[in-house]
Amino acid sequence: MYPNSIISKLRNHKTPFYYYDIEVLQQTLEKVKAEGLSRGFHIHFALKANHQQKMLKYVKEAGLGADCVSGGEIQQAINCGFSPDEIAFAGVGKSDEEIELALSHDIFCFNCESPQELRVLNELAGKHDTTARIALRLNPNVDAKTHKYITTGLKENKFGINEEDLDSVLDALVDLGNLKLIGIHFHIGSQIEQLQPFKTLCRRANELSSYIEGRGFKLSVINVGGGFGINYDHPNDNAVPDFKTFFDLFEQNIQLKPHQNLHFELGRSVVGQCGSLITKVLFTKKGRAKNFAIVDAGMTELIRPALYQARHRIDVLTSNKPKKNYDVVGPVCESSDTFRKDVTIPEVERGDLIAIRSAGAYGEVMRSAYNLRVARPSVYSDAL
Ligand code: LLP
Repeated sequence: MYPNSIISKLRNHKTPFYYYDIEVLQQTLEKVKAEGLSRGFHIHFALKANHQQKMLKYVKEAGLGADCVSGGEIQQAINCGFSPDEIAFAGVGKSDEEIELALSHDIFCFNCESPQELRVLNELAGKHDTTARIALRLNPNVDAKTHKYITTGLKENKFGINEEDLDSVLDALVDLGNLKLIGIHFHIGSQIEQLQPFKTLCRRANELSSYIEGRGFKLSVINVGGGFGINYDHPNDNAVPDFKTFFDLFEQNIQLKPHQNLHFELGRSVVGQCGSLITKVLFTKKGRAKNFAIVDAGMTELIRPALYQARHRIDVLTSNKPKKNYDVVGPVCESSDTFRKDVTIPEVERGDLIAIRSAGAYGEVMRSAYNLRVARPSVYSDAL
């Protein structure tokens, strides 16, 4: 919950807008540094979680690299000062144009996901008279125990190279002279709240790394991706995720050889808790069975509840009246345009401000123009 001094300033901005608490971001980055970078781990920030220029500036200053999944993200990372040699490029469907952009900047590494992609990358690297450093994204068939839409490491998922294809891929690499295999990459899913899937991932990564090195390749990069979840129910008590436990787990379970470095691609855990979507109550309405609070933000600003049944905490910023039960809904003509059903919050009236919390990751970046809704600029605590 924000102090009154902040709430009165938030009132000066046109809603709905994203509000980023830079102090929380900085505290989070300090922990990532103290628990992750200080152990020699390489941490690439997943721009897909948030690509706001100002946020990237802080992330970069903290010493993180970038994990990009499109030409647009690569360009944004470079514009924001990330050095190409700390940019990884992932994605199951990279276009020729995007590959050529990445090659022209000589980025650190392409995380490759299929035999055909390897052949195309080899050809394009040849055309540019260069060698592309690659990591093979392997599908480890580990259940991340998260929502099915953000599970990526199972056999049936489209991501990564399946184990059955690994031998033929390694055979083919011998003839792909414009590629240099430097590592292996995994990402089993997002918003992973249990530690067990990460332990299983470590075991699989150790096995696969030994196997590939046994076939004569030298892997300096072991990239275990991202996925560390945040606490959506209690963002105030858990503003900074427990990075110590997370990094301890990898330190204890990944067996690195002296020439190997451990890489991560963290998105949500870095920026999730510092962002809120600030919205205003337009109308209240008593339905047959429900009270509705109709707010001016919708699934166009934050699609997570509609898409993944995600539950974001709702704080009423401008009312401390007795509590009442509401469905908090947006203005878009879809019944899925609902932020929370049956949530008990202080009674609200037209004009009250609401913060939809833990929206710093996969919030603003997933905004859409559906219904031709106007996008308001984001607001930062250090420039209020
Ligand atoms: N690396 C790769 C290859 C990824 O695909 C992702 C996320 C990450 C790293 C970062 O994962 P994180 O640390 O943020 O969990 N829109 C969804 C989340 C999609 C995640 C996609 N991949 C949501 O709102 O929950």
